[in-house]
Amino acid sequence: MAPRTPAPVSGPVSGPVTGPVTGTASTAARVRGLTRDFDGRRVLDGLDLDIAPGQFVALLGVSGTGKSTLLRALAGLDQEVTGELDVPGPVAVAFQEPRLLPWRRVLANVGLGLRVPEPEQVARLALAEAGLTDRARAWPLTLSGGEAQRAALARALVREPGLLLLDEPFSALDALTRMAMHRLVLRLWQAHRPAVLLVTHDVDEALVLADRVLVLAGGRITFSGPVGAPRPRDRDQPALSGLRHQLLRQLGVVMEGH
Ligand SMILES: Nc1ncnc2c1ncn2[C@@H]1O[C@H](COP(=O)(O)OP(=O)(O)OP(=O)(O)O)[C@@H](O)[C@H]1O
Ligand SMILES: [Mg+2]
Repeated sequence: MAPRTPAPVSGPVSGPVTGPVTGTASTAARVRGLTRDFDGRRVLDGLDLDIAPGQFVALLGVSGTGKSTLLRALAGLDQEVTGELDVPGPVAVAFQEPRLLPWRRVLANVGLGLRVPEPEQVARLALAEAGLTDRARAWPLTLSGGEAQRAALARALVREPGLLLLDEPFSALDALTRMAMHRLVLRLWQAHRPAVLLVTHDVDEALVLADRVLVLAGGRITFSGPVGAPRPRDRDQPALSGLRHQLLRQLGVVMEGH
């Protein structure tokens, strides 16, 4: 399935979450009391979250805590969450696996469903930004993992989202490709300035990329801290070590008192 650009979601929700655009430009996402049960088990439990326009936020949490569930709700893809969701701008999603349509060439994948006067031209520009001009006519299955993920990023950004949701987009890539992707994402974010919510299991990835790092646990955001260090950042920067330790403790990787 291709990532889609769902309608903006807004207002109190119980049942379908698509609705009219009533959000203000002062927020990229505002969430209050978001709750989601699966088979009687509560996964999101009255979650509150604010993301400012243009802010790069990383979301950490152990496996199964509901990170993807939260992203699906923000994308308007979950009809069964309850609570308040206000996501005024267009939303774009990129997943762990690129989800390109194998029967369309790369350029067509990027331009799919674009409603602008010259979709092919716009898609070409996005591919160029992602460094993929020479792969425009390639079939998705012939791309490397990094190329496919760059195509998925181009497809997400070509929609000029107010909120870009990234669900572990780099986790399947080797370390060098992942570092190149970090640079690319920062460059594209600085050029287009969407708010970003990046789900990752990698604390260092969160520290290198984000303005703010969150931890999801027990159905709520249990930790939110700013990353003060100026960019470009290096994961070995001493300024990051205090927050890294805090995050690892939050995630249960290091024990209290150590
Ligand atoms: N459609 C569904 N039906 C039933 N249970 C679901 C469904 N989607 C998610 N869940 C459950 O909700 C919980 C949270 O899932 P989710 O995928 O949001 O976790 P996650 O934090 O993204 O985990 P991971 O880090 O492994 O990707 C899990 O226990 C999962 O089994
Ligand atoms: Mg997940």
